[in-house]
Amino acid sequence: MSNIEIERRRTFAIIAHPDAGKTSLTEKLLLFGGQIQVAGAVKSNKIKKTATSDWMDIEKQRGISVTTSVMEFDYHDYKINILDTPGHQDFAEDTYRTLTAVDSVIIVVDGAKGVEAQTRKLMEVCRMRNTPVIIFVNKMDREGKDPFDLLDELEEELHIAVRPLSFPIEQGIRFKGVYNIYENNLNLFQPSKQMVTEKVAVDIHTEALDGHIGKPLADKLRTDLELIEGVYPEFDREAYMKGELAPVFFGSALNNFGVQELLDCFVEIAPSPRPVQSEERTVQPDEPKFTGFVFKITANIDPNHRSCIAFCKICSGKFVRNAPYLHVRHNKTMRFSSPTQFMAQRKTTIDEAYAGDIIGLPDNGTFKIGDTLTEGEKLHFRGLPSFSPEMFKYIENADPMRQKQLSKGIDQLMDEGVAQLFVNQFNGRKIIGTVGQLQFEVIQYRLLNEYNASCRWEPLSLYKACWIESDDAAELDAFMKRKYQYMAKDREGRDVFLADSAYVLQMAQMDFKHIKFHFTSEF
Ligand code: G4P
Repeated sequence: MSNIEIERRRTFAIIAHPDAGKTSLTEKLLLFGGQIQVAGAVKSNKIKKTATSDWMDIEKQRGISVTTSVMEFDYHDYKINILDTPGHQDFAEDTYRTLTAVDSVIIVVDGAKGVEAQTRKLMEVCRMRNTPVIIFVNKMDREGKDPFDLLDELEEELHIAVRPLSFPIEQGIRFKGVYNIYENNLNLFQPSKQMVTEKVAVDIHTEALDGHIGKPLADKLRTDLELIEGVYPEFDREAYMKGELAPVFFGSALNNFGVQELLDCFVEIAPSPRPVQSEERTVQPDEPKFTGFVFKITANIDPNHRSCIAFCKICSGKFVRNAPYLHVRHNKTMRFSSPTQFMAQRKTTIDEAYAGDIIGLPDNGTFKIGDTLTEGEKLHFRGLPSFSPEMFKYIENADPMRQKQLSKGIDQLMDEGVAQLFVNQFNGRKIIGTVGQLQFEVIQYRLLNEYNASCRWEPLSLYKACWIESDDAAELDAFMKRKYQYMAKDREGRDVFLADSAYVLQMAQMDFKHIKFHFTSEF
């Protein structure tokens, strides 16, 4: 196996609370990769829910994000794969799954707003998997929080040690630039969307610094840097790789400022494809045989081509077009004649791809999230957890003549991971759980347009879905008998307790001490 091919790969996602600057940063990275020539070419995949947008708009916007789902480019000797994540938080589940396919993450934080709700949640997912993270504090050209306060906030709110590798000189309209601690040079700010500023090598202990930014600011910078060296231990790459320490950069994505420093440091320190855990064993990226798993399925909105694209992360070996691979769940050999890879705004058919890469496989319902492909070994990759949904509704058939279409539609949409399905064991009714209201509307729209089936929602007030387990079979049995009206099964047949309030859940936890209540399906 060619180790060089694997070692030069950097597969990562940029995550952020909406509006922090993820799209702007992605665009600037593509600019450095030569994938686009001018700023402004990449459109945000944010779903803008305005009074005028109908569901077709959502569909169109979803369609746009198919081609930008993965962006790959070469930078120096590195091959970069950026996995895009949906901007709208109702599609958070999609983002969680994408995070299972990356080897590291860049978190963008708005320098004025600090850590926001979605950032916190996404960081939790990174922590579950010990994903290495780099933090980019954006919008330094705006008035924001004091950088030291921000560093404290990052540490406290994201529960991770931080280490600044660059530091800002003033901010807002007085913003002068950043001092790059990693490279020991000064980068002076010039607001420009298209230009990359020159870096100045300067010894901060000499008067040369005063010449660049004036004596008062130079003195302040020296004090700040001394404080940083005093407070924060040296950057420790091992700790970063374990997901225990996050290096922090400051800049302005919109002005393409501080982005190149981030990228240069990123390619150097970020991990190449990491080993992946399967139920059977740990799979090393440099194993000669191909293995991969599907982490995302996206429907094609073009009505003439109703097929989907399954996104497969290659975990080991080399994928070759038209070679026979085992679809483990179906125990069936398949060949792929038109696998695709993704550039900024186009996708191309490829002949081969390596561990770390993401390939798109045309799919007509053969794939489901979590499916594994191998050269014959029966492997099952783990790490695609379902999280307890936030909202629940009963789904009912609104057209008795089309029960079959509805069932098929629900099944396929669940395979795609649009939402989660639970079946209540007491009354047999189907319950759909989502993280946002928007998903119910998308499901209804897609059932009608793609499956010619209509559904009706009935309200259901639940607090959480908990996957339950216990070593004490008798207690588990007693619990399920007591709560029989609230017991459901997920699609894998696992037992799920539907708690209708936090209080009920708390009481259950107190009464049944040997039962573990999990908020994710992976424990
Ligand atoms: P997102 O993908 O994380 O949601 O963020 P996006 O990049 O779309 O940026 C959100 C808004 O913040 C945009 O403004 C963008 O121009 C602005 N922005 C991003 N980076 C910076 C920065 O470094 N400095 C400043 N001052 N603003 C920044 P918008 O008004 O929502 O959109 P647009 O009309 O500018 O496109």
